[in-house]
Amino acid sequence: MRKPVIAGNWKMHKTSAEALAFFRALKAAKETTDVETVICAPFTALPALVEAAKDSGIGIGAQNMHWEEKGAFTGEISPVMLKDLGVQYVILGHSERRSYFAETDETVNKKVHAAFAHDLIPIVCVGETLEEREAGQTKQVVGQQVEKALAGLSSEQVKRVIIAYEPVWAIGSGKASTADDAQEVIGFIRKMVANQYDQQVANEVRVQYGGSVKPDNIGAFLDQPDIDGALVGGASLEPESFDRLVTASV
Ligand code: G3H
Repeated sequence: MRKPVIAGNWKMHKTSAEALAFFRALKAAKETTDVETVICAPFTALPALVEAAKDSGIGIGAQNMHWEEKGAFTGEISPVMLKDLGVQYVILGHSERRSYFAETDETVNKKVHAAFAHDLIPIVCVGETLEEREAGQTKQVVGQQVEKALAGLSSEQVKRVIIAYEPVWAIGSGKASTADDAQEVIGFIRKMVANQYDQQVANEVRVQYGGSVKPDNIGAFLDQPDIDGALVGGASLEPESFDRLVTASV
């Protein structure tokens, strides 16, 4: 039985003070134990959030990191630094990082390994563009992203990865995938993991859907047999909305 994970990705939103005000206003997200809840905040808000979230059951995540522990990488943040703050999760390979910041399958893979080396849970994002979908390449594109992201991981590590299937055209567009279409791709991802590893690993790895998820449509995704939660951008920014996402997922 896989526990659903509802993760908010705040992207480049909220100062520390705004993050704290959000956290104080949360209700349902602090009470449920049936759903794993995670807030992925900008680096600058992480110390305040980690402190506020202590003993709350809500996990705190970053939205990116470098794969090296330290070095001459101006502007980067390392897994050691995240771990030092008490961060538990890290989003890797989000399509915005892939398209605006030259993230590749290879760098995502290095980061996934670095995450495990420092006991951080990676939330690995994959997804096709509209052009790729219209060309019938969705499974090929997503399959390759998953395979390359997970390359070299042990079965035990793959069981702990959270994969977020986010079709690029659904992100921030208000046009979510249908639950059936998301199920088809996520079912495919699970089969791929079964082929690459084994059925037990595939049964345990959690795969979220992301892309214009709202409190009103999250239930349809969670009703699908292979969808284990959601990675939510815009609708995770208000505490009432985040609470409703969690409540609708129980
Ligand atoms: O990481 C989250 C996704 O990019 C989804 O964003 O919920 O605003 O469409 P959205």
